[in-house]
Amino acid sequence: MRIAVYPGSFDPVTNGHIDIIKRAAKMVDHLVIGVLHNSSKTPLFSAEERVNMLSEVCKDIPNVEVRYFEGLLVDFVVECNATIVVRGLRAVTDFEYELQWAQSNRIVCPQMDTMFLVTNVQYSYLSSSVVREYASHNGDISAFVPPLVEKRLKEKFS
Ligand code: PNS
Repeated sequence: MRIAVYPGSFDPVTNGHIDIIKRAAKMVDHLVIGVLHNSSKTPLFSAEERVNMLSEVCKDIPNVEVRYFEGLLVDFVVECNATIVVRGLRAVTDFEYELQWAQSNRIVCPQMDTMFLVTNVQYSYLSSSVVREYASHNGDISAFVPPLVEKRLKEKFS
């Protein structure tokens, strides 16, 4: 059984994340989406809200499970019995940061490998922070996020 974890803040989940989720889910038996709950930071959406949105938008992908985690990613990966971590790469600017964590995580947890999926060109500009910024100014975000997330963002900023 090949189990992978796709970790992130997902504040909120974007169409770029969903593209990575769909592609990764085809490559493994079970994909756990790990939503980071960082108690020292205040995200726009609570961990519960982020988990709920992800669960709703992924409900038709049978081998996907959404959970939140606190603390180290390596500990969550072990808890999930996973051996693969999935991360999306948008541009070269993502690479240095990702490489550093992939390498250090593998030293701490040698059974784990990070699998990078290159983001679809149509989403290479997209990030949760871009989405939050547009939404906070009442901008059109329909091309960036699923309708449910668009609705939740409008509610947040109304
Ligand atoms: O979507 P993000 O915010 O780029 O996700 C970053 C995330 C959640 C993968 C990273 O911050 C993380 O794993 N944090 C948990 C703490 C930890 O293990 N840090 C070491 C690096 S991955």
